[in-house]
Amino acid sequence: MTTVCALCLKVPRGEAESTRKKLLELGLLDIGRRIRREDDIVLIPVLSRQAEGLGHELADEELEVREVLETDYRKVAEVPDGVRNRLPTSFDIIGEVAIIRLDDDIVAHADKVGEALMETFPRLRTVALDQGVKGELRVRDIRVVAGAPSTETVHQEHGVRLKVDPAKEYFNPRLANERMRIASLVKPGEKVVDMFAGVGPFSIMIAKHAEPAVVYAMDLNHDAVEHMRANVQLNKVTTVVPLEGDAVELLSGIVCADRIIMNLPHSAREYFADALTKLNMGGTIHLYVICERDDIDRIAVDMSVEARGMGMRIGLERIEELKTYSPSMSVFALDVRLLDWC
Ligand SMILES: C[S@@+](CC[C@H](N)C(=O)[O-])C[C@H]1O[C@@H](n2cnc3c(N)ncnc32)[C@H](O)[C@@H]1O
Repeated sequence: MTTVCALCLKVPRGEAESTRKKLLELGLLDIGRRIRREDDIVLIPVLSRQAEGLGHELADEELEVREVLETDYRKVAEVPDGVRNRLPTSFDIIGEVAIIRLDDDIVAHADKVGEALMETFPRLRTVALDQGVKGELRVRDIRVVAGAPSTETVHQEHGVRLKVDPAKEYFNPRLANERMRIASLVKPGEKVVDMFAGVGPFSIMIAKHAEPAVVYAMDLNHDAVEHMRANVQLNKVTTVVPLEGDAVELLSGIVCADRIIMNLPHSAREYFADALTKLNMGGTIHLYVICERDDIDRIAVDMSVEARGMGMRIGLERIEELKTYSPSMSVFALDVRLLDWC
């Protein structure tokens, strides 16, 4: 603990909070020192003698120095300046785990970057390097570079708690608002299918914030389904039914739904016809697609043509570019409604 002799106001205890707020408003509060109490007097550090205008005695007293934490991890990273300039300004935090991507030619500095992140964000328990999302199960290839070796954690979004291990199952914290948007569309009594549910973030958000009759939550990844079952318990939701297996096979065993979520952006488009056959008239499919930005209108037309070939007319109610995937590609969210037979 470091103390210094600092200028402060001596304020009776009962007036301390209102005086602190007033000093803050006036830009006279010294946030680099800690407030100290002495019996019924509170010593509030100030930046200038102008503070005397508030009607309290000024004094020079020993006050503890407050460590002002650096909030930019790049400034504390022990890396050459040429590397520092290329460190990413944004990264994902899943629960207590930070996931960071680095270009191949600076990846050798990952340990130092991890240490800097741990230092800057004291809530972090682990920092892991993202080496790409791979395979059908969309699991990230990650390597822990700082902190505890386990990457299992509990992530919170919009009042939902999700147990997840990003080394074993896909989870994208950046979709929290999109999940909330879908939950807000669900009407009481709807039957919902979440075809590619992962650890259950869409399904549990819906069960928590809406009143569906049931949400069938499917995934091929055993680890994800195990965590989904745990998340159902953790959030005390009763309408989510986790199902392990291939979504197209599982679809054949369930009744038609009012809403189907297809969050498998690299290939969900291939399963569109399977989903459409299981949709109630007037129901909606939420389809996520990664494609060239110039291609999205053509994809939308293709879907209408495919539906017409099945004797159905669909309406594209909404297309939103959710995030950039590469210089020319983006992830799009499409809301598709089944309008009638044709
Ligand atoms: C992009 S992730 C989305 C997970 C989750 N919806 C979320 O928002 O975090 C796609 C998920 O689909 C699952 N998956 C891939 N192919 C599948 C299939 N044929 N049937 C069921 N699940 C599948 C993967 O295991 C993965 O968890």
